[in-house]
Amino acid sequence: MITDKKSPYRLVTDQQLAQLRAREDAIFNDRTAKSKAAFEKAHENLLNGVPMPWMGDWGTEHPIFLERAKGDKCWDIDGNEYVDFCLGDTGAMFGHSPDATADTVAHQVRNGITTMMPTLDSLEIGKELSKRFGLPTWQVAMTATEANRYTIRNARALTGRPKIMVMQECYHGSLDETLPHINEEGKLALRTDYDSNPGLPKDQLTRVVEFNDLEAAERELSHMDCAAVLLEPVMTNCGMVLPAEGYLEGLRELCTKYGTYLIIDETHTLSNGYGGYTRAHGLEPDFITLGKSIAGGIPVAVYGFTKEITDKINETYGNAGVSDPMGIGGTLAANQFAIAAMKTTLEKVATEEAFRKMFRGQERLSDGLEAVLKKYDVPWSLTRSGARCELQFMPTLPKNGTEAKNNFDWQLMYYTHLYLSNRGIIITPFHNMMLVSPVTPDEDIDRLIQGWDDCIKELAEIGTYNR
Ligand SMILES: Cc1ncc(COP(=O)(O)O)c(C=O)c1O
Repeated sequence: MITDKKSPYRLVTDQQLAQLRAREDAIFNDRTAKSKAAFEKAHENLLNGVPMPWMGDWGTEHPIFLERAKGDKCWDIDGNEYVDFCLGDTGAMFGHSPDATADTVAHQVRNGITTMMPTLDSLEIGKELSKRFGLPTWQVAMTATEANRYTIRNARALTGRPKIMVMQECYHGSLDETLPHINEEGKLALRTDYDSNPGLPKDQLTRVVEFNDLEAAERELSHMDCAAVLLEPVMTNCGMVLPAEGYLEGLRELCTKYGTYLIIDETHTLSNGYGGYTRAHGLEPDFITLGKSIAGGIPVAVYGFTKEITDKINETYGNAGVSDPMGIGGTLAANQFAIAAMKTTLEKVATEEAFRKMFRGQERLSDGLEAVLKKYDVPWSLTRSGARCELQFMPTLPKNGTEAKNNFDWQLMYYTHLYLSNRGIIITPFHNMMLVSPVTPDEDIDRLIQGWDDCIKELAEIGTYNR
């Protein structure tokens, strides 16, 4: 949702930004005429000209229509080539259409796509996920949203408690429990700028606290009505917020103290390592959820849990587990096509070597971007986390979602993304997240650094906002 919120550190005035924007819009329209025509035509049958709302949220006058994508590159229908640092907002974390995954998919698509029967591949993925993430039992869903939903259902079923605690400005998919936010009066209600789910009774499903605030977490958990705390170990959907020293461990202790399950959503933070942030930092969650990239972008997600939970599910619900009558499962979930794609991706694509390459790439990128900020004396900061980094329009790293949001600047952000896209570079829409895949060559990383250098140089030279 685009708002007029301005970062105090935005460099340029509205008028200066509007002038730059007009120049870039003209360049964009010129080089994407076919996309523009497709967008106009699409309005005949698609709401707002796109098959899914986010596809219209790139901040450009029309979306770029994709022709194909491979490795770290995309090509649009006008024939423009882009280096891609968005990578489907992590869905294509290991590069677009990795050869090994593509070969498996091509074979499997001719040998059964969905049957509601398990295959031997599922044994392998269970073993592999347990090895990587340290939790013994796994289940498969279609999307990370679903994995979170089923995990929440299990947590509620096992605790008999109604509420879920989440972090202010979090995102875990379009789950009702995770959409409420604290407003400016400190009440759990509408978001300050918009309501992602109007009509929802906000206070019945959710408790919301700021990330990195153990006192608030204890205050809310002590009501003893939260089935689970659901969080990303690094917040990655409101800009990026790193956990303070000891915060995640402290939250673990509080969850144990108040009988609340700890769910770590690794959907994005898988980019922190072979076994996600959980393994890299020795976390001890009750549940882990993840999706998006684990089958190279083929829709599939998983959730894992402890032996204690496994036993409790079996004691309470018998061999069927918390099953269909409880609202868990789906006919397409765990289909053999997706399972085969996941097995190959885990075994051959998302390897330890791949993560090492991604981390090296991120360090190169982050070093380069920090040098650019220093060169032009721009008071912005850079968060590094695993294979990703985030350029934030504020001088210090945010400690929580509200701090990150208060320095958000949609207009400036979309201008910078448009600037980069006109120079053949794509980064994540919604914020300034850049993900380096294992197949991103150094020269493409350097191209992104140069793109930001040119963009920031101009902003710093002409900018008179608060300067
Ligand atoms: C942390 C996190 N969890 C879950 C989801 C939901 O993933 P999906 O859209 O694949 O359901 C997202 C999506 O961006 C996410 O960022």
